[in-house]
Amino acid sequence: MDKPKADKPKVVLGVSGGIAAYKACELLRRLTESGHDVRVVPTASALHFVGAATWSALSGNPVATEVWDDVHEVPHVRIGQHADLVVVAPATADMLAKAAHGLADDLLTNTLLTARCPVVFAPAMHTEMWEHPATQENVATLRRRGAVVIEPAVGRLTGADTGKGRLPDPAEIFEVCRGVLARGVTAPDLAGRHVVVSAGGTREPLDPVRFLGNRSSGKQGYALARTAAARGARVTLVAANTALPDPAGVDVVRVGTALQLREAVLKAAADADAVVMAAAVADFRPATYATGKIKKQDDRDPDPIVLVRNPDVLAELSAERVRPGQVVVGFAAETDDVLAHGRAKLRRKGCDLLVVNEVGESRTFGAEDNEAVVLGADGSETPVPHGPKEALADVVWDLVAARLT
Ligand SMILES: Cc1cc2nc3c(=O)[nH]c(=O)nc-3n(C[C@H](O)[C@H](O)[C@H](O)COP(=O)(O)O)c2cc1C
Repeated sequence: MDKPKADKPKVVLGVSGGIAAYKACELLRRLTESGHDVRVVPTASALHFVGAATWSALSGNPVATEVWDDVHEVPHVRIGQHADLVVVAPATADMLAKAAHGLADDLLTNTLLTARCPVVFAPAMHTEMWEHPATQENVATLRRRGAVVIEPAVGRLTGADTGKGRLPDPAEIFEVCRGVLARGVTAPDLAGRHVVVSAGGTREPLDPVRFLGNRSSGKQGYALARTAAARGARVTLVAANTALPDPAGVDVVRVGTALQLREAVLKAAADADAVVMAAAVADFRPATYATGKIKKQDDRDPDPIVLVRNPDVLAELSAERVRPGQVVVGFAAETDDVLAHGRAKLRRKGCDLLVVNEVGESRTFGAEDNEAVVLGADGSETPVPHGPKEALADVVWDLVAARLT
C-alpha cells in the first residue's frame, strides 16, 4: 500500500529553462512511482517549455515559480528547509551560475539557498555553453561545496547539433538521486582518480551468427561505474555486450570478445589508479572461426568444437601493475564451496581484492541485488549482506580508497 504523504521522502524537482525540460516529466514519474513526495519548482523560463498544469498533475502538488505565490506559507524558505533532496534537471547555464553565486531571484534559487539536504544538478546545454570557462568554474564551485553535478551526456542537442551537453537519460538521473538519498552525499574520496571498470560478458564467435557467451548482464559493473563517478572519479567503463543505458558522466568503451576486452582494459589501465574486473570474461574461445554459417549436415554429426585458452586479463593486470600503486580487483562467481575457491583464486591471480559471490540459474546474473564476501590479499574478509548492487559497489570503493591512500 502507498505510504501516507507525510512519511515519504521529500524531493524538490527544480526545472530550469532548457529544451530538455520535457524529459524531467519522466524523472518526476520515476520519483513519484517509487514512493517520493515531489514538489516541482520550475523557473519562469521552464514554463515556456512545459506548463504548470503538467507539473502539478504529475506531482499531485501545487506549482509556483515566484516567491510571491502563497506568501503566507513562506514557500521561499519552507520548501528548501523540508526537502530530503533537491534535484535540478535540466540545469541551465544560467541556473548553475545563479546557484554558484548565491542569487535568489525566484522560488528555485531561494530553495537552493535554504536547502540543507543533498543537491544534485543535471546540466543540459549546448557544448559551447558547457565548455565556457564561466560554466566550468561555476560547476567546480558547486562541486567544491558538496553538490553532485552530473556530467552531461554526449549526443544529439537541439536542432542538428551533436556534442557534449545533452541531459543524461532520466533513468540515470533517477539512479543518481536514489543513490544520494540512500547514502547521503559521500565525500568525493575518489576525486582526481581514474578508475577502470569492466562489465558484462564476452562473446566468442563460432561463425557469423553463433557465439559462446555467458549470462552476465553487466548490472554489477554499471553499479560500480555509477558509484565511482558519484564519488568523484573519472571512470572508464569497458562494457561487453550489455543492453544498459550509459551511466551518467562515464566514458563507455564497447567491446565484444575477450581479446577486445583485454586490449581496451590494458589501454585504459595505463594511467588508472584502480581497475575492477567485474566482467565475465570467457576462459576459452573456439580455436577456429568459420567465415560462413556452419551448415547442418543430414548425414553426419557436427564436428566437435575445439577450444583454446583466452589470456587471463586479471592475472596479467595483477602481475604487471602498469602503474605503481594501482589497485586491482577481481570478481569470482562460484557455484559451490565459494569461499575456498575464492581464496585459492585470489592467491593464483595475485590481485588486491576479490569479490566472491555464489551464482546459479537465477542468482546474481541479471538480478538487481547481490550478496558477496570481499577477500583481501592482506587476509581481510568483508562480508556484504544481501542488498542492491550499488551497496556492494560502495563497499568495493571503500576498500579500494583505503588502499589508494
Ligand atoms: C528554445 C530554447 C532552448 C534553450 N535551451 C537551453 C538549454 O538547453 N540550456 C541552457 O542552459 N539554456 C537554454 N536556453 C536559454 C535559457 O532558456 C535562458 O538562459 C534562460 O534565461 C534560463 O532561465 P532559467 O535558468 O531561469 O530557467 C534555451 C532558450 C531557448 C529559447
